Amino acid sequence: MVLTCEGVMRRFRAPGPDAGGDVEVLSGASLSVAAGEVVAVLGPSGSGKSTLLHLLGGLDRPDAGQIWWGGFPVHEHAPSDLAERRARYVGLVFQHHYLLSDLTLLENVALPSRIIGRPDEERAGELLTRVGLEHRLGFRPSRVSGGERQRAAVARALALRPPLVLADEPTGSLDRHRAAEVLLLLLELAAQEGAAVVMVTHDEPLVSQAGVRLLRLEEGRLREASERAAAT
Ligand SMILES: Nc1ncnc2c1ncn2[C@@H]1O[C@H](COP(=O)(O)OP(=O)(O)O)[C@@H](O)[C@H]1O
Ligand SMILES: [Mg+2]
Repeated sequence: MVLTCEGVMRRFRAPGPDAGGDVEVLSGASLSVAAGEVVAVLGPSGSGKSTLLHLLGGLDRPDAGQIWWGGFPVHEHAPSDLAERRARYVGLVFQHHYLLSDLTLLENVALPSRIIGRPDEERAGELLTRVGLEHRLGFRPSRVSGGERQRAAVARALALRPPLVLADEPTGSLDRHRAAEVLLLLLELAAQEGAAVVMVTHDEPLVSQAGVRLLRLEEGRLREASERAAAT
């Protein structure tokens, strides 16, 4: 398995002065994802989807449970010690693009390769071309549209050919149609690259049509919902 997650728990201190104790956001979430497989996690706002993705990406640490990238036990390490391994293993597409504003799109997409000491602008240019941005290589993020920024973020996530891609549905500046476009583009590229994908979305019609494995995050646990996807 590219990714295994077993009995993952995460709780946060409730906000506010008179809040009573902790809120348990994840209470035993489990999931396995094989190479090349695409999983969509559905759940309403506040159900813990982003919390789960952060844990799966080793950006946050579970209070209990295990997370494995292949044979590597992510849960045994502090997020700050995982940077190098994460860069190679996981492509992250966040709700906000996090492109660096002083760099061009080409430089942004080439940055991961620079960081690991193997600069590869050719790969960056090729990925940007595949997401339809060949005419924007020299532009800074502020000079392109929100949809173009998200497409560049997709290209950046794939720069180092990670076995695993984690994507939080692009929202914010993007309307539903453009957000769907970015998700479909991500699916297409990940399939070409053979990467496993876990994406978080509340666009159930979209992912049902895409024919991907569906999981529902409910009461802090993941349940298979694939039968509904297969029916359409
Ligand atoms: N760092 C944090 N500190 C405290 N509470 C948090 C933190 N991160 C998330 N939460 C809470 O966890 C719950 C789930 O949040 P989130 O994972 O962002 O949900 P979703 O992405 O499904 O909308 C929310 O109630 C949120 O307020
Ligand atoms: Mg979220």
